[in-house]
Order: sequence, then structure tokens, then C-alpha cells
Amino acid sequence: MRITVIGCGYLGAVHAACMAKLGHEVVGIDVDGRKVDDLSAARAPFFEPDLEDLLKEVQETGRLSFTTDMAEAKGSDVHFICVGTPQKKGENAADLTYVDTATMGLIPYLSPGDVVVGKSTVPVGTAARLANMIESAQPAAHLVWNPEFLREGHAVSDTLHPDRLVYGVTGGSEQHDAVQVLDAVYASPLESGTPRLVADLPTAELVKTAANSFLATKISFINAMAELCDAAGADVTILADAIGLDDRIGRKFLNAGIGFGGGCLPKDIRAFMARAGELGADQALTFLREVDAINMRRRTRVVELTRELCGGSLLGKRITVLGASFKPDSDDVRDSPALSIAAQLQLQGAVVTVTDPEALENAARRFPELHYEKSTDIALRRADALLLLTEWRDYRDLDPYEAATLVSSPRILDGRNVLDPIKWRAAGWTYRGLGRP
Ligand code: UGA
Repeated sequence: MRITVIGCGYLGAVHAACMAKLGHEVVGIDVDGRKVDDLSAARAPFFEPDLEDLLKEVQETGRLSFTTDMAEAKGSDVHFICVGTPQKKGENAADLTYVDTATMGLIPYLSPGDVVVGKSTVPVGTAARLANMIESAQPAAHLVWNPEFLREGHAVSDTLHPDRLVYGVTGGSEQHDAVQVLDAVYASPLESGTPRLVADLPTAELVKTAANSFLATKISFINAMAELCDAAGADVTILADAIGLDDRIGRKFLNAGIGFGGGCLPKDIRAFMARAGELGADQALTFLREVDAINMRRRTRVVELTRELCGGSLLGKRITVLGASFKPDSDDVRDSPALSIAAQLQLQGAVVTVTDPEALENAARRFPELHYEKSTDIALRRADALLLLTEWRDYRDLDPYEAATLVSSPRILDGRNVLDPIKWRAAGWTYRGLGRP
């Protein structure tokens, strides 16, 4: 099939490459000329494991191209909308400008029978509105909502081997013409047994926000338990292992630490609350306010613990922050808890150095006032305290004996509870975890 992918960011660039890998002819469209140039040269414009290799592989087939020209959408059977829906400035609601602009821009190039597929995370009700817009201009075109569940850092494999496919169509019927079209797009994952559910438009939109809200709730639940463990002298990591063995609960997403960040979970739960309010169902989601509050409290807690670790004052203390991205294997720093903590420490008088294997450029753009150092060894030199805030493999594997020779004072705060306290203490370090005695 010929496929258009509009928006070539963390979602769209991966989606375009993966659709080409599945055998389709794909044109990726983005307003950012630099991104288009990079992708056209098979360079990934951001760090995502396996993406660059995949770009190279599919570009050799001639099935993948990129452009800034929306007119190139003409002739495609399927058009994916993969643009961002960030939080509105000064409000909790999602900003739909990019989704609306992409849809309006695409409409003149639609032909009868075309299927427009929304993948962006949107407030419930958006798909029906876009369907009206599309059908009033091109009555024989369809809109489908097909939420994306990929995780950054695993985006390529999540797209090629999704754990489920959800199609939202007007009326929610299996017989809808667009269902067959999407089945052809996803023929390969469907053949390998990926479950697929057909729903109406609002249900498909809600599946995505509900899933992200559940994940955020799971993380905040375990972080609330970490607060309790701190108060009671208990160990949240063992608590998580023990409750996680109940397969109704499960161990995944029960890692207590500095909390969730990124371009999705934080803004999605806020937009969900805002939308529930508009629908008169705000009470249903008041618990998400607590989920958000627990999460934001983690950041303050780390600043306070760092102050304690440094003997009661941060003034002039040299703090090295290991990790800037919102999670490992990504260079994404959107709402990164690590960077937010680094900035708060600096505001309170600490001399902060941030290091990260991939995210320093993005971090420096967002927080230019912080000091960055690429080399871990140099970043460690003469530090009064280390803060492990993003659990990149390099930092999990640090040798406490070697690290002790570089720092000024062997003090470490393990913001992700990934280090072995016994090993670090044996090497002479003062070790603090979160929710661990
Ligand atoms: C999240 C969802 O997991 C994806 O399913 C979804 O498609 C995506 O948002 C999206 O809406 O596009 P992502 O933002 O890539 O994916 O990151 P996650 O793996 O969910 O991690 C989010 C944050 O939670 C990170 O800061 C991570 O460090 C933190 N986290 C995760 C914890 O603090 N504890 C955990 O146990 C797990």
C-alpha cells in the first residue's frame, strides 16, 4: 500500500520506517526541513535504539521517502497522523493545534476511499470532530482512530510487534470499510497473532488515555508506598517484589524512584482530567490529581534528601547528576524529573554538573543554565555527592571502588533504586535510596 505519515517525531519517524519495513511504500511528511533532511539521509533525528539501522535498511529498498510538501500525500491509500499534542501553556488541557493543522492540510489531497488514521493521543471527542471535518470535504474518505502504545527506547520493536491493535471507527462495527484497509496495513503483526479490537471512536481514544493513566497510577502508588517505607524504616523494593508476585498486581511499573516524566504520562493525565471536567465527569478522575501530586513530590523529596546527604546545606556543594533524559535509552528530556531536580538543586545554591550518554544536547537547549559534561569520569571528579537519576546501563554498572577514587566525598543518592546498597556501602559510600532504609 502507499502510506503517508504526517509528523516525523518520536512517533512518526519510527512509524514511517516500520511501515516501510512491513513492505509498504511510505512518504513521511514534516514541517521541519532539518528533520526531513536527516531522515532522507537515513540519519535518526533523535536517539532511539535500532532506528538508524532500520532507516538505512528500508531506504535501500526505495520504499521510504521524506518531504515537507503535503501535496505528496496525494495518491496514498492511508494517511497516518502522528503529530504531537503537548500540554497547552498555562492550562492542563492538550493543545490540538498540530492535529488540526495536519488534518486541514491533508484534506485537499484526499481521494475517495482514502483512510485517515489518527495515532496522536487526543482528548475524547476529537476524532468525531475530525471525522466531520474530513467527511464534509471528502464524503468518501474515512477517519479511524488507532492509538499508539509504543514506549520510547523500545519504539521499533513495539511498532513491529505491538501487544495489541485498536481500531476506532464511526459506529464501532467490524464491517466498517476502513477495518479491512487497516488489516491490510497491519497484515504482518496480525498474522503473528497480535490481538486486534474494533471499537467506536470515543472508546478507542479513551483506551489510550486510560492505559497511560493506569501506568501513571501504578508508579505513583509505589512511590506513595516508598514515602510510607521511608517513614516506617521499610524497603519498598522488597515490598514491590513481594506484591508483584501476585499476578493480579504484576511487578512491572512498580519501580519506586524519582517518578514519571516524559512527553506522555504527565501531560496525558492532566489533559484527561481537563477533558473529564468539560464532560461533567471530573469526579471520576480526581484521583489523578493525587497521582500527579505524589509524582511531583518525588522531585522535592530528592532535593531534601540531597541536602541531608550533604550535611544540611546545598550551598556551594558540587553535585553530579547521572542522567538527564526522562528514562534510559532515550534522548528525550521533555518533563524529565532528572533535569527538574538538577535545576532545583542549582537554584538552591549547589554547583551542579549533569552527565548523560545521549541527552546532553536536548538538555542544554531546555536548561541552558546548567553545566553539562559528556564524560562520566570527568563529571565525577571532585563531586561532593552523586545522584543517579536516570538508570542508563553505564550508571547501573559503575564500579563503586573506581568511582570512589574520583569523587571528593563518596556519597550517592540512588534515585531509581537500581544499585546494590551492600556493594556500594562496602566500597565506603554513604548510600541513600528512595523508600529504602
Ligand atoms: C508511555 C507508555 O508507557 C506507552 O505505552 C505510551 O505509548 C507512551 O507513553 C505514549 O503515550 O506515547 P514512555 O513515555 O515512552 O511511554 O515511557 P514509559 O516507559 O511509560 O515511562 C514513563 C516514565 O515513568 C519514565 O520517566 C520512567 O522512568 C517512569 N517509570 C516507569 C517509573 O518511575 N517507574 C516504573 O516502574 C516505570
